[in-house]
Amino acid sequence: MCGIIGYVGKREALPIILDGLHRLEYRGYDSAGVAIVGTKGAGPNAEGGRVKTSRAVGKVAMLASSCAGKTLDGTAGIGHTRWATHGKPAEKNTHPHADCTKQFYIVHNGIIENHEELREELKKQKHVFKSETDSEVIAHLLEDAYKETPVLEQAVQSTLRKLRGTYGLAVVSSYEPEKIVTARMGAPIVLGLGEGENFVASDASPLLSHTRTVLYLEDGEMAVVTPTTHTIVTLDNKAVERGTETIEWDADRMQKGGFPHFTLKEIMEGPEVIENTLRGRLITEDGLAKLGGLQSISEKLREAKHIIIVACGTAFHAARVGEYMLEEYAGIPVEVEFASEFRYRKPVLDEHTIVIAVSQSGETADTLEAIREAKRKGATTLGIVNVVGSTIARETDAGIFNHAGPEISVLSTKAYISQLVVLALLTLTLGRERELSLTMGKKIAEALQELPKKIATILKQEKEIKKLAKKYAKYEHMLYLGRKYNFATAYEGALKVKEASYIHAEGCGAGEMKHGFIAMIDKEFPTVAIAPEDSVYDKMLSNIQEIKARSGRVLAIATEGDTRIGKLADDVFYIPKTIEMLSPILAVVPLQLFAYYLTLERKLDPDRPRNLAKSVTVE
Ligand code: M6R
Repeated sequence: MCGIIGYVGKREALPIILDGLHRLEYRGYDSAGVAIVGTKGAGPNAEGGRVKTSRAVGKVAMLASSCAGKTLDGTAGIGHTRWATHGKPAEKNTHPHADCTKQFYIVHNGIIENHEELREELKKQKHVFKSETDSEVIAHLLEDAYKETPVLEQAVQSTLRKLRGTYGLAVVSSYEPEKIVTARMGAPIVLGLGEGENFVASDASPLLSHTRTVLYLEDGEMAVVTPTTHTIVTLDNKAVERGTETIEWDADRMQKGGFPHFTLKEIMEGPEVIENTLRGRLITEDGLAKLGGLQSISEKLREAKHIIIVACGTAFHAARVGEYMLEEYAGIPVEVEFASEFRYRKPVLDEHTIVIAVSQSGETADTLEAIREAKRKGATTLGIVNVVGSTIARETDAGIFNHAGPEISVLSTKAYISQLVVLALLTLTLGRERELSLTMGKKIAEALQELPKKIATILKQEKEIKKLAKKYAKYEHMLYLGRKYNFATAYEGALKVKEASYIHAEGCGAGEMKHGFIAMIDKEFPTVAIAPEDSVYDKMLSNIQEIKARSGRVLAIATEGDTRIGKLADDVFYIPKTIEMLSPILAVVPLQLFAYYLTLERKLDPDRPRNLAKSVTVE
């Protein structure tokens, strides 16, 4: 969703902020803006001391061209990419927002829940609002607070006490030009520390080309950043001592590396991703997985009687596969729930419940709140997270990192397969402590090790998938059908198609088809049937026959060497054989490529799906 970047140092701020905004584009946005503070003398009337802004609807490139015609010099500034919540995408709603005197500029991620009442009060005091956003109240409150206490951080502090809701916030003012004040409540803020320069951002991606030394704010904290100092305090002014962390991802991994889109690059990284997720974690001869991040809760895991997995979107589909793996091989009852539902109902949890959050970003608002709710109720929490240092990674009692590397594309692809691999590793760990035999443990471990090669063979057939996409791009609707382990694959395949190509695709458990969905089938409504040779293969063949009997076209995903399915389906894409529980990891790869090429056939940009944000940090 919205992105924030701030810079204060010796260099010109504008190019650094524009570059940072480009690197934040992946989060999804509809407009962007900058505010640069002139530093040749402080104060609103001093030469160069004023804050200058530029804002544009559309891409960061539009903002860059609008900046080109202006003098925006200065060595401190803030920038923002906005994903509209309150007020449509329009220049007046684009951040930064200013107060009436144009001396305080703010960029804000999150939602101010009491903005309407604050706006009414401020209007009574003759404040004039320029936007329809919830965020603008912050700038006007600051204007008033600074009159009372003319120190920027204190004015920010007293303003924040009046807000209800969520914020990741950065503030600059012409009164104190070499300073950025930033604060966090429910929306992440990370400080990047350099030599004679410092940064503020909503995630580490815009910082990596400048520094790897970072420091994450916690909820209820505020930081004051100058070129050479950073201090953190709580909202009630208690000093916070926090050590820095080093980010291991390098900036190169966040580039397209010769691929036309991040989406394709990340799908193609599949084999390497699995190798990285598995590295150092399998003890094949003992049929075991070694997951260091679980040590602190090993006792709890041994005594666990119940697992609940909370997640959203693609991560939710990974969790559904995890449920089948864990129940079949570890024998523990598992429930999978949308995090957004879990947090609002009254789940029954106790000290023998493990609540697992699956989240690529580690910042999804609903998943984070679900974990907080689980902790309040006494459950042990475990994060399966890709982004190191993210809020879910830090707030859960224990964790397993995916090691998939930065996922920039809004479409989650490589993170999904790494989530499935992590869930398989967790199954091995919990299973071997319970009823999973050494023989089966070894079989799973060996099959996991073979996955990278098998994915590579699928990826080599990219051209075949491209041809299939050409055939199917004309359809407006598609059904994705799967059973048992590939029930979730059907939903995931359909989600990928919807997100990027805007073809209406629906996932359906194959057993459910006759309970309603079959009414939709005709020659204009093709089906993608995920039918590897597994324990439900014959049932899938029956489903395919039923579709064919109603003139539906079928594209099947089947196992290499299958001689039956080709006689029924109109098109078949073959994947290598693996054990049943790992088949979703292979089956989803052609579906990811299929969605990518359908999107290109429809002349759309898979990296920039409309209305979507990479990380959903508001409810
Ligand atoms: O970062 P998270 O894994 O928590 O994100 C969850 C979903 O928002 C995410 O998977 C979303 O559905 C993707 N756009 C799917 O491609």
